[in-house]
Amino acid sequence: MTRPPKPPPRPGRVSLWRYMRLFRQDILSAQPARLYHAWMAEFRTPFFRSFLCNQPALADQVLRRRPEDFPKSNRIREGLRPLLGNSVFVTNGEVWKRQRRIIDPAFEGGRLRDTFAAMRDAGQAAAARLNIKADSQPIEIEEETSHAAADVIFRTLFSIGIEDETARAVFAGFRAHQRCQPVLNLGAFVPLPAWLPRFHSRRTRRTAAAIRGLITELVRARKEEIAAGSAPDDLATKIMTTADPETGARFEAAEMVDQVAIFFLAGHETSASALAWALYLLALYPDWHERVAREAQAVHGARAPEFGDVARLRVARDVFRETLRLYPPVPMMVREAARAERFRNRDVPRGSQIVLSPWHLHRHQRLWERPDDFDPARFATENGRTCLREAYIPFSAGARVCTGAGFAMIEGPLLLSMLVKDLKFDLDPARPAMPVAHLTVRGKDGIWLRVTPRQG
Ligand code: HEM
Repeated sequence: MTRPPKPPPRPGRVSLWRYMRLFRQDILSAQPARLYHAWMAEFRTPFFRSFLCNQPALADQVLRRRPEDFPKSNRIREGLRPLLGNSVFVTNGEVWKRQRRIIDPAFEGGRLRDTFAAMRDAGQAAAARLNIKADSQPIEIEEETSHAAADVIFRTLFSIGIEDETARAVFAGFRAHQRCQPVLNLGAFVPLPAWLPRFHSRRTRRTAAAIRGLITELVRARKEEIAAGSAPDDLATKIMTTADPETGARFEAAEMVDQVAIFFLAGHETSASALAWALYLLALYPDWHERVAREAQAVHGARAPEFGDVARLRVARDVFRETLRLYPPVPMMVREAARAERFRNRDVPRGSQIVLSPWHLHRHQRLWERPDDFDPARFATENGRTCLREAYIPFSAGARVCTGAGFAMIEGPLLLSMLVKDLKFDLDPARPAMPVAHLTVRGKDGIWLRVTPRQG
């Protein structure tokens, strides 16, 4: 029986230095197998103590019930500062609350309907690009899905396609930035002591500054269009014209640049990872591949998809959901205990790292039936429904839940359905994929698939 690829856990006990070395290579394979079974695990090092919380009630406490007692740590802010400045992803307290009050309305249900046409156009462009390459030669599919997801973000945020000169430069800038910061990941799970100064290489600072320069230009131009009354009705306009309901203040241009940087980063990296894994899983499970294709034919067939179709793409949605379970793009998240706590009869000192791991929670052997199997139908079972409520957090949960969760759950199934309608994805037996945690969960040597046009 084929199983979706899973990195081998590290063997037994290892020294701290070996753990750090493994960790730098890949967070996933640095962890021991017991984390798929334990409710909690404590890591003690001379520099920090961290507690990985797998018990649903603990995760609930940290994320949903008492988020203010478990803020994001400065460690995260420092790691991401050159690129993200003071973006909503890294702030805490009153600053964060104000930023969410301004941003959230842009991502509410009604607005998502308005962004649909832009998403669909990006989906059509991605299908057309792949169609040209579909000659059954192996293709590195993450590159294609990155391109598609970046296109979605540019079109929905700034009404420009990825072919636009600035959009292309921002996209290239992000890639260069990632290459010079290989251990950066969205959870910023970097086990360094808090007192150690964060070292950003000159290249890291240069690539981050280049991206921010381009975004500053986009924001400046948009500000002028808003003032002239000629701005398109997209997410950027919505966010820049929304006043904080409590203070009446809008984002200053510089603060908007910080937010745009995180929308590009969090919005395209994550969706690209999920879409690439979804296509890989469909290649691995041809019966589900056919079901998604048949559904696409039945729902949007020869015409362009419409917003109302999304609710009918149930198979694509379940496949995408199951993909996010097996390959959560953000595999681990870190918080800091703002005061001393007691978890499962153990003392958790103030300042400890609290790790929430979608990767382990989603494959937990005491929670999920057949946790390592790919089964999109599981969400219709009692176990699947319970776990969906209690042990499924690909977008995090509670007050700090991903702003783009609703957006991503339209984008993912839609693009999957559009790509699979006309194209067939097959494995390349010479290049099986293996997940590793980079900025998001990616294929160790990429994700390679053979793509052919679908007959009839
Ligand atoms: C499949 C796609 C996506 C996944 C799996 C995902 C996952 C996540 C997760 C796990 C977090 C919480 C991280 C933490 O607390 O450390 C997060 C936060 C965030 N995401 Fe997403 N995301 C996705 C798509 C998007 C999109 C499309 C956007 C915007 C266009 C977006 C914007 C954000 C922002 C702004 C935050 C910070 C929220 C806060 O801290 O208040 N994400 N995302």
